Amino acid sequence: MSKKKAAKPAPKKAAAKKSAGKSQTIMTENRVFKPSAEFSKKARVGSMAEYRRMYEESIKHPDKFFGREAKELQWQKPYTKVMEWKCPNAKWFVGGKLNVSENCLDRHLVGPNKTKAALIWEGEPGEKRVLTYQQLHREVCRFANVLKRNKVKKGDRVMIYLPMIPEAAIAMLACTRIGAIHSVVFGGFSAESIKDRVLDCGAKIVITSDGGYRRGAVVPLKKNVDDALKGGDTPVETVIVFRRTGQDVHIEEGRDVWWHRELEYVDAHCPAAVLDSEAPLFILYTSGSTGKPKGILHSTAGYLLHAQMTCKYVFDLRDDDVYWCTADVGWVTGHSYMVYGPLSLGATSLMYEGAPNWPENDRFWKIIEEYAVTVFYTAPTAIRAFMKWGDEWLKKHDLSSLRLLGTVGEPINPEAWMWYHTQVGSSKCPIVDTWWQTETGGHMITPIPGATPTKPGTATLPFFGVDVAIVDDLGKEVGKDEQGKLVIRKPWPSMLRGIWGDKKRYHETYWSEFEGWYFAGDGARRDKDGYIWIIGRIDDVLNVAGHRLGTAEVESALVSHPSVAEAAVVGRPDEMKGQGVVCFVTVKEGITTGRDLADELKKHVRKVIGPVATPDEVRFAAALPKTRSGKIMRRLLKQIAAGEVIKGDTTTLEDLSVIAQLAASGED
Ligand code: WTA
Repeated sequence: MSKKKAAKPAPKKAAAKKSAGKSQTIMTENRVFKPSAEFSKKARVGSMAEYRRMYEESIKHPDKFFGREAKELQWQKPYTKVMEWKCPNAKWFVGGKLNVSENCLDRHLVGPNKTKAALIWEGEPGEKRVLTYQQLHREVCRFANVLKRNKVKKGDRVMIYLPMIPEAAIAMLACTRIGAIHSVVFGGFSAESIKDRVLDCGAKIVITSDGGYRRGAVVPLKKNVDDALKGGDTPVETVIVFRRTGQDVHIEEGRDVWWHRELEYVDAHCPAAVLDSEAPLFILYTSGSTGKPKGILHSTAGYLLHAQMTCKYVFDLRDDDVYWCTADVGWVTGHSYMVYGPLSLGATSLMYEGAPNWPENDRFWKIIEEYAVTVFYTAPTAIRAFMKWGDEWLKKHDLSSLRLLGTVGEPINPEAWMWYHTQVGSSKCPIVDTWWQTETGGHMITPIPGATPTKPGTATLPFFGVDVAIVDDLGKEVGKDEQGKLVIRKPWPSMLRGIWGDKKRYHETYWSEFEGWYFAGDGARRDKDGYIWIIGRIDDVLNVAGHRLGTAEVESALVSHPSVAEAAVVGRPDEMKGQGVVCFVTVKEGITTGRDLADELKKHVRKVIGPVATPDEVRFAAALPKTRSGKIMRRLLKQIAAGEVIKGDTTTLEDLSVIAQLAASGED
């Protein structure tokens, strides 16, 4: 970054004016915001020179760099080697033994952190709970004993389908205590999605609750589990039910037990299992470009180290911080940055149940004021929604406790960045725009808040140990400002260790496009300062309000409907959600199309995948545009969905009249 370019923050008015016209600003954005001297002075990494020195060491001497960082974990047995790599299999901290729950809990019980808040929780109806490290430790040990009592053993898979309540974190940590592998499923997924996942990972036990609250409604979690397990053709032997909403639920004799009842049989003593550095820690399902969601597997030592390290360097978390990550625990962000990272570091992590606009549009700001939140991490889609709802919701609250802001999930447009900076952060808080993925386990490209001058819309530079390149189809690095594919050329501690049960797919999906390099599925470009601008997914994965959704998954849900002959799903730019889901559908002989069928198909997708996948629009046509070899021309469909004039080569199109039809088709 040349000094000349680093300007002072633009005054509010000028900034607002300048940021009008979104796509053009991304390419020409040149506002630079340096961290304040005050922030840098206190930060762990206080200058670009320091960042560069550390980064270089992490790349050239990973053994030394990560060996030093790993001293900050509590080991049951020291490792003998930092890393072993034979593509695509990585082993970190070979031979070491440790336990995640011990690192997140027990080690904080000596010294002042014992009585410090580990989790602060606010439920949607307004209940509040604080669990100190000591209390959380006790609850985790008790529940780990409940799992043992229900015959859960090391290596068994445990599915967790809970609302945003402390019990979700308790259940996760209890699994880690005994070496069971958890797989958390987001509450917005349907019974069918639960069933698919249960079967794929071979879960023996499901932990759920009667229901959960969202925007004043009760989500019928237990009923979804019942539907998923109907027929008894799954490996699930036991369902543990937490009482949250108090509504009536079916209890299946011989299978279902109540969480609170089970606790009556156990004590609070549960030694932490001795686990290998590479012991599987959790499986988290995420969407890919083909077929069913993939069970991304993470393992123990490397994952925990990266989660802790990024909380330390990227969020700069300290003993007196009140840190709030608004993500749901069902996503990787909730895993790494609500539970494991902050707790491993001994920080205070806030968790909330509900939605940003319930009971009113100021839920976030109210919580920040009430708990004096200092470090706040949320998604661009939420920021854009708040912008739309108006500044008055924010103005009602004192947000002066905030000192650092973060975003994740999708590219943040400069307007939203500026609003976040000026309105939420009072122009004084650094913003860390963190690029990463379920597969990467933790932050990969991100500013270091006391060091990196930021620019609205870029995730800036790689984190320690992350060797990023932007390449063309042949693997050659592209030039400045040219778009290419984002790859990572070296293994990093928290990288995925595989796709559950599918070694071949693991290699093919991530390591075969450029043999030996990890291909992320995102497009990016580098600017003159070397900053990385993420363009977004270049595969058939959509990013809808920060949630990943495979077009193939939605297509397969659509064609499972009896009226549908063929379907193609594409994303369309959406101001709020980043992308909206547009479905092009052809129907079977004799089926009448129209709004009723469009609504029915939307409902059908919700039922099959879950509310997270609800299509924005369903369009009918007599045929889909295909090449002569029968491939659906998605490029055309994307243009049609976005209402653009069809550009580019259509010479391979089988039937040109199809385009005109599709462009004319709407829901009505
Ligand atoms: C996108 C979420 C731009 C990206 C942690 C990636 C981002 C996908 C950013 C992973 C960001 C995430 N800027 N794009 N700061 N963060 N993405 O697995 O396309 O749910 O591939 O992990 O989200 O989504 P996932």
